[in-house]
Amino acid sequence: MQETRLDTARIRAARRVIDPVFLDSPLYRCEALEAALGCGVSIKLETANPVRSFKGRGTEVVTSLLADGGPRAVVCASAGNLGQALAWSGRGRGLDVTVVASRFAPAAKLDRIRALDARLELVDGDFDMARERAAAIARRDGVRLVEDSLDVETCEGAATIGLELVDASFDAVLIALGGGAMATGVGHVVKALVPGVEVICVQPLGAPAMTRSWRRRRVVTTASTDTVADGVAGRRPIPAVLDDLLLVADDAVLVREASIIAGVRLLFEHAGLVVEPSAALGVAAILEDRERFAGRHVVTIVCGGNVDLDAHRGWVTG
Ligand SMILES: Cc1ncc(COP(=O)(O)O)c(C=O)c1O
Repeated sequence: MQETRLDTARIRAARRVIDPVFLDSPLYRCEALEAALGCGVSIKLETANPVRSFKGRGTEVVTSLLADGGPRAVVCASAGNLGQALAWSGRGRGLDVTVVASRFAPAAKLDRIRALDARLELVDGDFDMARERAAAIARRDGVRLVEDSLDVETCEGAATIGLELVDASFDAVLIALGGGAMATGVGHVVKALVPGVEVICVQPLGAPAMTRSWRRRRVVTTASTDTVADGVAGRRPIPAVLDDLLLVADDAVLVREASIIAGVRLLFEHAGLVVEPSAALGVAAILEDRERFAGRHVVTIVCGGNVDLDAHRGWVTG
């Protein structure tokens, strides 16, 4: 296999610097969901931690390096979950954290970032505009810019999810695809240790830039995004991350908004889980192609649960 930027030994070492509260998350077969989806389904539950998403794994790795004598101030752009996770990890290590986010991000995410003592700056635009603003702040103030998916530590942190999967027996893993930290991280581990397992990335039709890039093997950007899955709504894939994704993903699929919302509802109804739309992308992919998964055992990573209550109520009551 050609080499990604990731290294399995470093990923194993990353486990030692991540607060155990994020590690060894539940992995279990969900029979009720299996009946609804017509295939074997295991859930890897990444919402039962202090920041309700998998992003804490990566921010723990990033901040543990900074705490070892590096800069004391950091800035990141975030759709909401990375910012919350960086605020959590940074607070524990005495770092000064600034998060730049879209003012259209879910209030629940923005409120939690503030509650964790980070400085929150809002842009009147989307996630990619927040990325530009965060980079400008880093240049202006000379502080460390944490770039999700580009900073390899964010991928290594997410990749530790993969280490927790490989001892189980399953045929495919469904991974929500945004910037690509989770897909390249988990994909690297799966291809290194259980290469027969299919790595399938899932994005909304309304935010297809990385999937289109993967299919064309070159960066494709979009002018806008239009999806309820705010955690994965990027327009500008990062070239180095695409290169890694090309090495580890077997497929990348796009799903409709109605399927994502049906996924949120099914996870609530059959698994008792409150998830944000990005975390329902895997279920949406099964709903859209039942034949592909029939008779197979699929792991879906339920990767975030930060939702505005009213929105969630609307999705589950239909
Ligand atoms: C809940 C959730 N799912 C999926 C993603 C996408 O992950 P990545 O950017 O690592 O591809 C994110 C990103 O923040 C997220 O918060």
